[in-house]
Amino acid sequence: MKFFVDTADVNEIRELNDMGLLDGVTTNPSLILKSGGKIADVTRQICEIVKGPVSAEVTATEYSEMLKQAKVLAAIADNICIKVPLTLDGLKACRAIRSDGRLVNVTLCFSANQALLAAKAGASFISHFIGRIDDMGIDGMELISEIRTIYDNYDYKTEILAASIRTVNHVKEAALLGADVATIPPATLKALVKHPLTDKGLEMFLADWAKTGQQIG
Ligand code: E4P
Repeated sequence: MKFFVDTADVNEIRELNDMGLLDGVTTNPSLILKSGGKIADVTRQICEIVKGPVSAEVTATEYSEMLKQAKVLAAIADNICIKVPLTLDGLKACRAIRSDGRLVNVTLCFSANQALLAAKAGASFISHFIGRIDDMGIDGMELISEIRTIYDNYDYKTEILAASIRTVNHVKEAALLGADVATIPPATLKALVKHPLTDKGLEMFLADWAKTGQQIG
């Protein structure tokens, strides 16, 4: 499973990238707002840190305006993946941007039929929002299984990107169901390493090691 980090916080991205954990980054207008920076500056800095796909989202809603914005965003770096919303204009833009050889992340997917349309439009990634579906009292994970089945039935190459992840269990379940990518907030990504028995075991080993009076090296 590929790990993308879901943030526009350059310091967090640098820290996680240095750990060798990142395959890419996803941003959106809300995350750019949170970063406090200008989209071009922040995105350029992220692309200098991470070599994998960095999703930058268009904010236009009309096809030709989307293409204009996609051109501006694509000029930032070669690893920019253009993010478009799951609308008819967004799907049309997806097809056009893909034919220029760019990666496209189709975002705001909440149904299997939407995911099917994105695959037909040639999307590189389909961002399915688990947390926001859970918030409605519906199991967001079920949709991953449905999309996995549909894409496998027709051998679509679009990668299932589990987005709107809120918990470490979301990551585990998305991996079990065969999502290709999880985009994870920094705190949740770091929390994946935690287990109380790991901490307890390490504490015991270190205490016993101190009793030996030995040193390595
Ligand atoms: C990522 O591409 C999505 O924009 C993001 O995961 C949405 O997460 P949220 O529902 O926590 O805002």
